Amino acid sequence: MIKKAVIPVAGFGTRLLPITKAQPKEMLPVVNKPIVQYVVEDLVEAGIKNILFVTGKGKQAIENHFDINYELECKLKNSNKYDLLKAIKEIDNLGNIFYIRQKEQKGLGDAILYGKEFVGDEYFIAMVGDTIYSENIVKDLIKVHEKYGCSVIALERVPMEEVYKYGVIEGEEIDEGIYKIKNMVEKPNVEEAPSNLIITGAYLLSPKIFEKIRQTPPGKGGEIQITDALNLLLKEEEILGVEIKCKRYDIGDVLGWLKANVEIGSEKLPEFREFLKEFVKNL
Ligand code: UTP
Repeated sequence: MIKKAVIPVAGFGTRLLPITKAQPKEMLPVVNKPIVQYVVEDLVEAGIKNILFVTGKGKQAIENHFDINYELECKLKNSNKYDLLKAIKEIDNLGNIFYIRQKEQKGLGDAILYGKEFVGDEYFIAMVGDTIYSENIVKDLIKVHEKYGCSVIALERVPMEEVYKYGVIEGEEIDEGIYKIKNMVEKPNVEEAPSNLIITGAYLLSPKIFEKIRQTPPGKGGEIQITDALNLLLKEEEILGVEIKCKRYDIGDVLGWLKANVEIGSEKLPEFREFLKEFVKNL
């Protein structure tokens, strides 16, 4: 049974500067909630109650968001704003949240390593803090893990000409949409990419990954890449990939953020759907 998750949120978010100078990118609003609330909600809905945020300098807004704010609750109660009060209280009940600070921004692999003591000797979920999905893919990862008993990572098929931006897998399809991974390459040239199945930032990992991250030297950009650590893990344990069919919103840059707001806005706020469609068409 998977009980714990680690969400790294310590990155500088340089592609979103100047927004992210003092504002964590993981707290950027998508319609009416910050990105990271969607991530936590999916985990809690999938039955994971213990969540560790790997935070860094300037990320206190995340802690405040998941904390109780009595003054605000009192104010909403006194002014009979019960709908808003309910929305605030729902956040308070989102699992047991823990925090640890990554001391230097040395990459996603290094950030996940900060979860070692929290996770212990169990399989766990790691989700990047800047990506949301139109469906709950945590449940898919857990389902595949329950059937095969190994690490499982979420994959997405992208147009071949875009593979150079991602970690890409080489694998064999063993069941519909499930791949036995043979190798992973970080940001390959289009000509050398083994496939167009990319690693999306949602992982269900064996605790052995921590030892492998420790053995991983800094890779591209001087960062400890989780993909490199996964390749080391692959030498000893099986890793499967599950192809996600839903929409993924990577909010690492301004266009990704705008797209997420328009699309999720038109889904979540049906009263604006027609208006938004017309508005975008007329731009
Ligand atoms: P990114 O590489 O997209 O985030 O990492 P970044 O480094 O903040 O972005 P840019 O490239 O400078 O614009 C994906 C997730 O991993 C976290 C980030 O906070 C983000 O949620 N991360 C990344 C860490 O926690 N620590 C790191 O050292 C790097």
